[in-house]
Amino acid sequence: RTLESLGSLAGKRVIVRCDLNVPLKDGQITDDGRVRASLPTLNALIQQGARVVVCSHLGRPDGAPDPKYSLAPVAQRLSELLGTPVAFARDTVGESAAEAVASLEDGDVAVIENLRFNPGETSKDDAERAAFAAQLAELGDVLVSDGFGVVHRKQASVYDLAEILPSAAGLLIEAELDVLDRLTEKPERPYTVVLGGSKVSDKLGVISHLLPRVDRLLVGGGMLFTFLAAEGDKVGASLLEADQLDTVREYIQRAKDSGVEIVLPTDVVVASKFGADAEHLVTPADAIEETPFGASGLGLDIGPDTAARFAEVIRSSKTVFWNGPMGVFELAPFAAGTKAVAQALTEVDGLSVVGGGDSAAAVRQLGFSDDRFGHISTGGGASLEFLEGKKLPGLEVLGWS
Ligand code: 3PG
Repeated sequence: RTLESLGSLAGKRVIVRCDLNVPLKDGQITDDGRVRASLPTLNALIQQGARVVVCSHLGRPDGAPDPKYSLAPVAQRLSELLGTPVAFARDTVGESAAEAVASLEDGDVAVIENLRFNPGETSKDDAERAAFAAQLAELGDVLVSDGFGVVHRKQASVYDLAEILPSAAGLLIEAELDVLDRLTEKPERPYTVVLGGSKVSDKLGVISHLLPRVDRLLVGGGMLFTFLAAEGDKVGASLLEADQLDTVREYIQRAKDSGVEIVLPTDVVVASKFGADAEHLVTPADAIEETPFGASGLGLDIGPDTAARFAEVIRSSKTVFWNGPMGVFELAPFAAGTKAVAQALTEVDGLSVVGGGDSAAAVRQLGFSDDRFGHISTGGGASLEFLEGKKLPGLEVLGWS
């Protein structure tokens, strides 16, 4: 169900479930990508003269108000980006929220406080979630679900509320699905997937599902050390998920059997400790313990030869999906691998997609503007689960699956 399917929304109270879960430092938004991504739907509703009630989660508070996770700075940023005043309700479904909504005129916008300040939002108990959704439903006539980053969560505002109010997907969800469909239905070849991030256990589902579908899989980030160990290399004190070694070996074998090229690093950056001031050097991937740091050497980035090889493979691809940094990009000495991969993605003659979360934050932090990529997804876990072929509750409930 699309926005259009809801008919004219002039004068109606429209609850828009966004994913405004932005990173904050000292109360300041450090990456407003998700706020900007919510603008097309909000502007479309404002132009129609809807009374817009924006809701979102922020962080993972414990089902109770916690000032550190208030949406107040986000409402402020939204107001700046929309170029219009935005009212802010200090609670989610209480008196302040009801008043803020009752004061809306056609074309006005209000943001209600963090959904997760209420235990019903994330409850595993169906009745508790439904009860909270019923309270939310009192604030609107229809629901536009546009928080793509949260559609993999069966939560009150994402799932149960859509069962109560007439509902449809917003323009962000439509745009995200359009791109992800291009990755899953007949992607142009060669199709390369670049995976990084710390834990291989977070990526097992997506690797398993993608192996028969891609031409090349490039492995970086903390998870690369479990791949190296599975091949018999010693990895010093680097991140290692020993309980995943057999699964990783099985994937490597499956890849060989099906002609998929798994490209593993041939060199890595090893450090004496975790920190920007750590001593560090480049070493072959099969000699991690042979540096002066011995068995306490800590792999924190892919090495320059690997970065060059990855960049070459990426640039020669027609479709590329990337999720997960190649190293600890937040620390300058270990950012080069992630930067090289990001740069190569901007040079792809075809479709390049950056999966959300850390990879989106990485490209922006490293100074790349969004328009240099085919698409930067707002969903980290959501885009991975989509590519895993999983049913996503927040999409299913809207009839999108
Ligand atoms: C995200 O950051 O991936 C989404 O906002 C979902 O957040 P969650 O993992 O806390 O549910």
